Amino acid sequence: MRTIMIPASMLLLAACGGTPTPAETPKDEAPKEEPTAEPKDEAKPAGDPTDAASFDALDADAKHAFLMKKGEEVYTSSTLACQTCHGADGKGTPPAFPPLVGQKDMMGDCVNHAAIVIYGLQGEIVVDGQTYNGVMTPQGDMLDDLQIAAVATYERNTWGNAFGDCTPADVAKARAENPLK
Ligand code: HEC
Repeated sequence: MRTIMIPASMLLLAACGGTPTPAETPKDEAPKEEPTAEPKDEAKPAGDPTDAASFDALDADAKHAFLMKKGEEVYTSSTLACQTCHGADGKGTPPAFPPLVGQKDMMGDCVNHAAIVIYGLQGEIVVDGQTYNGVMTPQGDMLDDLQIAAVATYERNTWGNAFGDCTPADVAKARAENPLK
């Protein structure tokens, strides 16, 4: 319990210290200001995400800051680094890889978005008038629920997107009942 609480309190400090008005935290700034999940000697190995229980204990701003930072890590450097295909700017590489900017309808809600990451996606989709018929391989075995919630949150709230945060519970739901079926 002790090792869990230390990073949690650091997160709260980082969130409060970096932003004078927590209610209007600019979504992209907080995570870049301060390393929110600094690996501590006695804590978990670097890169190991906070577990779901300690995530749940955070307030909304700290959750958002944590998810955005963790999500950027997954987006840029997970095994199947999303930016390889969807671009550092989220604009994709038409006509091979679809953009993720402004795509709320295509991603659907968080459960649907998580399911795309867990189960992958193939078959024809149309994004911004462009048809894509590619294959995105499943990531459900590579990424845990917190990582998937984080990358979905990152994609929904960067590059000008503002589609709200996802939670590990959304991801668990997507695993339990695949909405893409
Ligand atoms: C190897 C290339 C590749 C990588 C890497 C990749 N994707 Fe994809 N992604 C695709 C393709 C191709 C599609 C569209 C599949 C289709 O045509 O049905 C897609 C579709 C999506 C969609 C749905 C977009 C929409 O508008 O419906 C989401 C969300 C998504 N990817 C997220 C991710 C995330 C998150 C990661 C990293 C964990 C990732 N992708 C990594 C190729 C990739």
